[in-house]
Amino acid sequence: MSDPTTLRRLYGRSKGRPLRAGQAALIEELLPALSVPDEGPIDARTLFGDAEGHGRPLHFEIGFGAGEHLAHRADMLPDHGFIGAEPFLNGVAAALGHVRDGHLANVRLHMGDALDVLERLPDASLAFVYLLHPDPWPKARHAKRRMVNPGPLDLVSAKLAPGGEFRLGTDDPTYCRWAMMVMGGRADFEWLAESAKDFLARPGGWPETRYEAKARREGREVWYFRYRRR
Ligand SMILES: C[S@@+](CC[C@H](N)C(=O)[O-])C[C@H]1O[C@@H](n2cnc3c(N)ncnc32)[C@H](O)[C@@H]1O
Repeated sequence: MSDPTTLRRLYGRSKGRPLRAGQAALIEELLPALSVPDEGPIDARTLFGDAEGHGRPLHFEIGFGAGEHLAHRADMLPDHGFIGAEPFLNGVAAALGHVRDGHLANVRLHMGDALDVLERLPDASLAFVYLLHPDPWPKARHAKRRMVNPGPLDLVSAKLAPGGEFRLGTDDPTYCRWAMMVMGGRADFEWLAESAKDFLARPGGWPETRYEAKARREGREVWYFRYRRR
C-alpha cells in the first residue's frame, strides 16, 4: 500500500490569510538564517556548529503547526537542538515569532515536507521525534495519507537512536485506533504505557499544542502516546 513516503505530495494548505508585515519580515529575514540547508548532511555540526563528536541531542518535530510545542521544548532544553518541519507558511511565521520572542538559538526550521529532511538525517541521530495531531484523514480511502504508516515510521525508526523517543498525540478516535494498531505491530518500538492514565493524561514535558487546546475546548478526548525505540 502507498503511504506518504511513496506519495510524496502535500495535501494540506500551504498558505492561509495574508501575513502581517512583521510576519512577512520574519519569513524574509529570519527564516533564511534558521533554515535547514537545502543540500548536504544534516547534523549538529552543520546546524549548530557543534564540534565533531560533541554534537548535542537532536529533536525533530513533524508538522509543528504554529510552533508552540517546538518553541516550548527548545526553551526547556537549551543545550539540545531542535529541527521542525512544516509546509504551512502562516505556521512557519508564527514559529519564527516564538523563536525571536524566546531568543531561542537552538531551533532550525524547514518550510516543507518533513520527510525530505528526515531522510537526510544520519541514522540513529535523533533523541526525540514528535508527531502531534497529524492530519487525521479519517476516511478509509485516505488512510494512505496518514503519517502513521509503515514508510514514515520506518524512517522515524531508522533516525531515532536506540532508547530515543517517538511522541504521538491525537484527538481523532479513528487515528487513535489506527495508531495503536500500526504501532502495536512493530517490534522496533516499545509503548511506554503501564496504565490508561499514561495515555489519557498529558505527560510532563509535553506542552499543549494549538490543536490539542482546540480539541479540549470542543469537548474531544486527546490521547498521548510515547514509544521508546528499542
Ligand atoms: C492538524 S495540524 C497539527 C499542528 C500541530 N502539530 C498542533 O498540534 O497544533 C497538522 C499539521 O501537519 C502539517 N503537515 C502535513 N503533512 C506534513 C508533512 N509531510 N511534513 C510536515 N508537516 C506536515 C500540516 O501542514 C499541519 O500544520
